[in-house]
Amino acid sequence: MFLNIRKKIAISFTFFILTSTLVWSLNLYNHYQLTKKIKLIDEKIELLNTVLECRRYEKNYFLYFNRTDLREAITYASNAEKKQADIIDKYKEAVRHLPLRGHLKNLKQYKALLTDLLNTDAGKHREKLLQKQIRTIGKQITDNIESIVSNEREKIRGLIYKTNLYLYGALIAIFVITAITVIFIALNVNAPLKSIEIAIHKIAKGDYSSIPPVSTGDIFESLVNSLNRMIEVLNRRNEQLIHSEKLASLGTLTSGVAHELNNPLNNISTSIQILEEEIEDGDVEYKRMLLEETENQIDRARDIIKGLLEFSRERRFVPRKVNFKKLVEKTMKLIKGEIPSNVTQHFRLDDSLEVRIGPHQIQRVIMNLVINAAHAMENGGGEMTITAERTDENTFCFQVRDTGEGIRKEDMERIFDPFYTTKEVGKGTGLGLSISHGIIESHGGRMEVESQEGMGTVFKVSLPLLCEIPEISRN
Ligand SMILES: Nc1ncnc2c1ncn2[C@@H]1O[C@H](COP(=O)(O)OP(=O)(O)OP(=O)(O)O)[C@@H](O)[C@H]1O
Ligand SMILES: [Mg+2]
Repeated sequence: MFLNIRKKIAISFTFFILTSTLVWSLNLYNHYQLTKKIKLIDEKIELLNTVLECRRYEKNYFLYFNRTDLREAITYASNAEKKQADIIDKYKEAVRHLPLRGHLKNLKQYKALLTDLLNTDAGKHREKLLQKQIRTIGKQITDNIESIVSNEREKIRGLIYKTNLYLYGALIAIFVITAITVIFIALNVNAPLKSIEIAIHKIAKGDYSSIPPVSTGDIFESLVNSLNRMIEVLNRRNEQLIHSEKLASLGTLTSGVAHELNNPLNNISTSIQILEEEIEDGDVEYKRMLLEETENQIDRARDIIKGLLEFSRERRFVPRKVNFKKLVEKTMKLIKGEIPSNVTQHFRLDDSLEVRIGPHQIQRVIMNLVINAAHAMENGGGEMTITAERTDENTFCFQVRDTGEGIRKEDMERIFDPFYTTKEVGKGTGLGLSISHGIIESHGGRMEVESQEGMGTVFKVSLPLLCEIPEISRN
């Protein structure tokens, strides 16, 4: 039988409260017993003191034969008798097993002997006899009460020991019950909540794998089931989205290729038509010019096709260990000629940045970004800063910053599209950023751009320090 979580918590708290109540009731009962015993012993000590006082007067009388002492002794004996009777009356249960009733009889007898001594003018012999009897019985009374008091003290000690034992036992019991309750709640509430939290974090990070099912039979089970259903729907939507995105980018790519190739092909066709028409004509110079133009246009078409090939090929790489600073320096040497002289270059590169990447592919990205920056500052000049540093134990980041013309807000969304370029015909194919973006993605990294029109642009690339072989290369 499965209980829902509210019932489970209610049961565990009821168990906790019941056990605590039981443990504390036991302790309270013990405490009550102890208080009662202490009161009883107080009264017995008072009785003992009265008897001792009585005996003091008795002894005085037998020393000095002063009748006042004898009277005092009788008064104290009466008091003791009354106290004894009171105790028997008040603590019937507690003194049932004690020989107090016998003492009461003794006390009565003792008092009678004292009174006898006071009232009768006995002769010396009789007085001696009474004295002997009084002393014996008086001693008996004191000894007995003393032994009762010490007995009671012993019992109280035992009771205190027991109470302490119960108290420690209670503390341990409550500690154990609290621990059990906490463990119970941790296992039944925290653990499923934690796994749900982890699953939600994973979803937020884009990992749509389903949560391991739980069979607690409570709200968590239905929550996990609902989340798994939601993940399923999200996965399906994602697939649809990827599919439609693929179609859209294929459309952009196709129309881009068509458009880009159409221009050189048109030009080639026009030149050939003119050559056909004027084949008999003697203007060799003009015909040579037309043939050169045709060759240029063929080169341009070849460039476009080369770019397209790279677009798909550059995503494949085998990671290698390289020093990132050295890689940037090597790349800068290759494209030295592309950077105008009015552009000042700054480098802030961590010497010790050892990374595992596809070196040719990342070199291609650096080239694209640096040449774009250089083009953006071509007219007015400016400053280009390249930085690279480790960002945490697993990632590093490099940036290419320029103070060039910047990117217009409306162009921002399109700069990563294949064939999107603002550069004049022949200067850019518009494939640089889309190729770079693909390369960074296949490395498991991210590329971001910030730009302000007229102020400059910064491209920020964040990459894992140790990149894995991309899926696409493994296949
Ligand atoms: N640093 C930059 N400053 C200003 N605009 C930029 C910068 N980098 C890119 N752009 C804009 O983004 C567009 C696309 O860049 P991308 O590198 O993809 O193509 P391209 O440079 O035009 O051509 P290609 O790189 O293929 O020769 C550029 O035409 C330009 O408008
Ligand atoms: Mg470019």
